[in-house]
Amino acid sequence: MPRPSSRITGIVPSGKDGWEVHFAAWTRKEAGEDIIMLSVGDHDFDTPDQTIEACVTAVRGSNHHYTPLPGLPRLRKAMAVASTACTGVATSPDQVIATPGGQAALYAAVQAVLDKGDHAIVVAPYYATYPNTFSAAGADFTVVETPAEDGFQPHATDIRAAIRPNTRAILINTPNNPTGAVYSRHHLEELAQICREHDLWLLSDEVYWTLGGGEHLSPRALPGMAERTLVINSMSKSHGMTGWRMGWLTGQETMISLLVNLNLVTTYGLPAFISIACAEALENGYGVKEIAERYAARRAVFLDAMRGMNNVTVRGSEGGMYAMLDISAIEPDDEKFAFALLDEEKVGVMPGSSFGEAAAGHIRVSLCQPEPVLLEAARRLRRFVSSYRREAA
Ligand SMILES: Cc1ncc(COP(=O)(O)O)c(C=O)c1O
Repeated sequence: MPRPSSRITGIVPSGKDGWEVHFAAWTRKEAGEDIIMLSVGDHDFDTPDQTIEACVTAVRGSNHHYTPLPGLPRLRKAMAVASTACTGVATSPDQVIATPGGQAALYAAVQAVLDKGDHAIVVAPYYATYPNTFSAAGADFTVVETPAEDGFQPHATDIRAAIRPNTRAILINTPNNPTGAVYSRHHLEELAQICREHDLWLLSDEVYWTLGGGEHLSPRALPGMAERTLVINSMSKSHGMTGWRMGWLTGQETMISLLVNLNLVTTYGLPAFISIACAEALENGYGVKEIAERYAARRAVFLDAMRGMNNVTVRGSEGGMYAMLDISAIEPDDEKFAFALLDEEKVGVMPGSSFGEAAAGHIRVSLCQPEPVLLEAARRLRRFVSSYRREAA
């Protein structure tokens, strides 16, 4: 084979990637062991029936052709309405571009604001694909950790200290994966101030905005921010549509028109029948309330079961689909803890260090299982913690 490009080989450097415990749990489950998988961020339930029906009707209705590059007009309109609700800023259809999933919106945002050699700041703990998305653009980045003891809120002094002359953007995610932290108004205002002062883009990943457990605050709504914020949205979490691969990016009209060229050379538009089903799901909010209520109930049940557990502290865990447990008082090596929990109690969780240094000494527990399963996992965790001997493990 001739030599592949350094661009493609550089996206995912070889070596450890933090998913070792997850794949070990998965392999054992496939082999028939009774493993409770709390390591993945995908729903344990299907897409709402109405959305499925909308897609079936659309595919039977001869919607089999190319669609406009930035998305079907009906879809863009529905996404603009959703962005208005999500960000609190009146949004028109030409301020959004449809993408195949939130990941592609993130990719588009990074491609749109960073040249090779430019620098960005990534606030951690972060979603696992962030570093690779910057590598794909040939951009450099600095990870700024958020303190666990402050519920993983971003601190302005730490961010300021990471700014370089070639810094062009800051990437944040609230409600956060993996910590479940919801960034406070105060911290977002400080971030916005930094962006204005240094003329930076703010890339704001808000794919969990409906799962925040309270009113969602988007930094796009803060003074002077609409012109410098690109918001990443997705159908995956809010509408129960992970496998449909549909998301969008919101920003200033000029930037969105430029981004249409990226769709020209990558997707050349999205599938028509999926676009129609998504538009209908957005227009009618199919599943949104039910999914939000389901995760809120699961979070409450699981966190309640954690109450009073010796040496385990809940951090963040206010929204999104995850709970973050500080287990450092039991075992500072979170990967060792996670592997031992899998071996002894057959529960698969993600070691916090897979998501950045700030989450080291933690485990991320996915709430993508029904309440009885989460309660059983909590029982196993309690038993494991009470008998754990650091030297013996
Ligand atoms: C924070 C965050 N951003 C973006 C994504 C990408 O989601 P999708 O591509 O399914 O829309 C995920 C998926 O888990 C995520 O957790």
